[in-house]
Amino acid sequence: MSRPAVLEAMTALQEHARVLRGRRTLDLFAEDAGRFATFGVPLEDFLFDFSKHKVVRETLDLLIDLARASDLEARRAALFAGEEVNATEHRAAMHMALRDLSEKPLVIGGHDMRPAIAAEREKVYAFANAIRAGSLKGASGLAFTDVVNIGIGGSDLGPAMATRALSPFAAGSPRTHFVANVDGADIADTLAKLNPARTLFIVSSKTFTTQETMANAATARAFVVAALGEAAVARHFAAVSTRLDKVAEFGVDSSRVFGFWDWVGGRYSLWSSIGLALAIAVGPENFTQFLRGGQDIDDHFKTAPLDHNIPVLMGLLGVWHRNVEGRAAHAVIPYDQRLARFPAYLQQLDMESNGKSVARAGAPVEFATAPIIFGEPGTNGQHAFFQLLHQGTDVTPIDFLVAAEPIEADAHHHALLFSNCLAQSEAFMRGRTLEEAKAQLRKQGLAEAEVEALAPHKVFSGDRPSSTLLYRRLDPRTLGRLVALYEHKAFVQSVIWDINPFDQWGVELGKELAGRLAPIVESAGASTEGLDPSTAGLIAWRRG
Ligand code: F6P
Repeated sequence: MSRPAVLEAMTALQEHARVLRGRRTLDLFAEDAGRFATFGVPLEDFLFDFSKHKVVRETLDLLIDLARASDLEARRAALFAGEEVNATEHRAAMHMALRDLSEKPLVIGGHDMRPAIAAEREKVYAFANAIRAGSLKGASGLAFTDVVNIGIGGSDLGPAMATRALSPFAAGSPRTHFVANVDGADIADTLAKLNPARTLFIVSSKTFTTQETMANAATARAFVVAALGEAAVARHFAAVSTRLDKVAEFGVDSSRVFGFWDWVGGRYSLWSSIGLALAIAVGPENFTQFLRGGQDIDDHFKTAPLDHNIPVLMGLLGVWHRNVEGRAAHAVIPYDQRLARFPAYLQQLDMESNGKSVARAGAPVEFATAPIIFGEPGTNGQHAFFQLLHQGTDVTPIDFLVAAEPIEADAHHHALLFSNCLAQSEAFMRGRTLEEAKAQLRKQGLAEAEVEALAPHKVFSGDRPSSTLLYRRLDPRTLGRLVALYEHKAFVQSVIWDINPFDQWGVELGKELAGRLAPIVESAGASTEGLDPSTAGLIAWRRG
């Protein structure tokens, strides 16, 4: 298909939006008794409900026309075939291979990678079991009670998010800690709690050159050496990387080095050996369930018809809001405290993937790309930024995530949590008119003058769209499904926007400049000549 066909499909959506503008979502429910069933997709014990978006069947048809005009099906096939979809880095993007538990060959770059993937996973599992069982000990002969993952971006957010999400599955395991920031406060606060003789450090870095990770790893190494001597390093460090040569230079024992491949992007690497800290926390069986959840979604994404395909629908609804309705942000609100880091994880996944201004062929993009993703767990967010979501001048589409059943036995807490989630999505859709606000105030016995003065402040526009992802309970398989859904949603959107979601050149410039500035900042006498006046002025001010 050609891009003119895409532009045509987008124009048709814009015309359709004008027709819908005079409608109310509530009226759409009144007109169609089957709306909840039509605008929802069940997937085993999972339900994606998008009936609270102001869309009708024709909207979906037009969005699917857009997907077809963008060649979504061919691009999806190329992704799963292990083609070089990341053209600027000459790589496939085959993180799905890591969670493919079938027996089929996994051909990437002309080689069946299945044996290598399985071998690496077995190595991770054996190590995780040995740490969990206490059979692999530190230099002083003591079992490990604490595991510190040192990494940043995809080498941190995935394992940190998932370990927190699955904490009930980690009972009796060593405690896990995550150090990412180059701010020395991060590692100092972590080390302050730890006994070096009982601590294992995992240095996680795809490239093994990332400044933050290397600085933190050096500090952790010094901590171990100071307490236990140089020889202890081999017993207290493990590493995960694609750059085995660089790991060897650091001094990690080769039996504790876990690899992965350049066709696994950092933000897609939780499924690989980067998940080592998670595997130690929850154990191999739960880790396999997590992989299985990812594979469920791969199967669904590959085979479900486009109008019943959850990541396709999530992606297309996002395009509708971003490109047709002009919404610049998107909130993800898990009513699930253990998913507290999920929005941060998605920020990297979505914004690093699709925060692009250049199309695949190098020309400027035709449409606005990724919205700003943000979120916090509900109900906490309700008492913080929800005011803006309800009554602010911008409309922000929301994904609500909630479990049908809690992990904890306490039914009362979960009933309150669940009701709040539903109440919010209802309030966003329903809103409150001026007349309704006045009627409510009169009922409270307020004088008419006060009713007139107060009522405008109590109006909610309504028609603020949200999806609800309802899952049975937050277990490893569910988490795998959630992560894979958002991965494929980002992919779908990248296809519509015709961008490469698998590179991240936008992070380079800041890294280069930080590398140039560090010696100037570190040495009081270094010249600031050649720097812009603001940068030079700030350095001078720091010097005092
Ligand atoms: O700076 C961005 C980034 O390259 C991410 O894409 C990546 O997840 C992160 O840095 C960490 O990279 P590495 O795993 O190579 O240390």
